[in-house]
Amino acid sequence: MAQRKHRIAVIPGDGIGKETTPEGLRVLDAAARRFGFDLELTHYDWSCETYARTGKMMPDDGMDRLRDSDSIFLGAVGWPGVPDHVSLWGLLIPIRRQFDQYVNLRPCRLLPGAKSPLADRGPADIDFYVVRENTEGEYSSIGGRMFPGTEREFVSQQTVMTRIGVDRVLRYAFELAMTRRRKKVTSATKSNGITFTMPYWDERFAEMAKNYPEVTTDQFHIDILCAHFVQHPDWFDVVVGSNLFGDILSDLGPAVAGSIGIAASANINPEKTFPSMFEPVHGSAPDIAGKWIANPIGQIWSGAMMLEHLGEKEAADCILATIERLLAEGGPRTRDMGGQAGTVDVGKAIAEAVARG
Ligand code: NAI
Ligand code: MG
Repeated sequence: MAQRKHRIAVIPGDGIGKETTPEGLRVLDAAARRFGFDLELTHYDWSCETYARTGKMMPDDGMDRLRDSDSIFLGAVGWPGVPDHVSLWGLLIPIRRQFDQYVNLRPCRLLPGAKSPLADRGPADIDFYVVRENTEGEYSSIGGRMFPGTEREFVSQQTVMTRIGVDRVLRYAFELAMTRRRKKVTSATKSNGITFTMPYWDERFAEMAKNYPEVTTDQFHIDILCAHFVQHPDWFDVVVGSNLFGDILSDLGPAVAGSIGIAASANINPEKTFPSMFEPVHGSAPDIAGKWIANPIGQIWSGAMMLEHLGEKEAADCILATIERLLAEGGPRTRDMGGQAGTVDVGKAIAEAVARG
């Protein structure tokens, strides 16, 4: 019987993305051998260097080339000299939008040996997911500016929530909770201040909850929810928010769980109509790029999320368990985690442990 095969588009991008992506691939390769599947990789050098050369972050047929892959594995995009809005809108945003990656998913989990900025918190206290709506809501392009430069000047930008858009991200959050031990979903709202869209969000949340009687629910206004992330991270299991609230929580969540170098993320099209994209939370880190000291764990963990999406759950679980075990046993770690190891040392240690089992 032919082995299962997954086609992966690889975009290392800029800066430390070029250093962490190979380590992500090293671990993916070890997992593929051990768990018996093939990864067919296609490499793209699209980056700010491409922009400097061609005036574009990716070629005109870039999206068509990516469309044939099962997933996209990305490093980081952005480099001094190219404005961030150019690199972002030239590569990441078209992928997220045109491939309808309507879920942005970030695990927030305190790994052993990672130092949380919160005092007296251990791995058992911080283990939740932030699910962010990634296509509509507050980040709409409906609005404008009138009477510019005059006393009557005004600006307006509208939040757009559709039933389809709200329901599908809520459903994803509940389905995710069903796979977890605690089975709890928390909704981020602000229906006391934002009086049309947020009550609608709350209404759809209550409606969706009826389909999942086993799931416990609660909801908080975004302001106090941010405080609870810091004071009571142990309350949370799956937290779902609109585009803006999810954006805020999806940076705060990984921050309470320690170094940015370990944080992973996924942009998911759950129906698999289009490829999904997996990338670390961090950027290209120009301050440490070229020194080969970047922590590759965020990239490697993103690779594990990709395997889970592709149906290789056993391999995904193995990678995460291996990272946790190596950190707990005092394995090599980069400087951001208080060690001296280089990017490649950490990647090799994890890959070898995954291969050994
Ligand atoms: P950054 O995440 O690149 O760096 C922030 C700080 O964290 C730096 O001090 C850096 O050295 C450190 N850091 C980041 N990743 C690390 C790792 N793996 N190991 C150890 N330390 C690490 O954010 P910054 O500096 O704001 O952005 C730099 C560039 O990256 C910009 O052009 C920005 O637009 C881009 N960026 C791209 C993202 C993406 O591709 N999704 C996300 C965030 C920023
Ligand atoms: Mg953000």
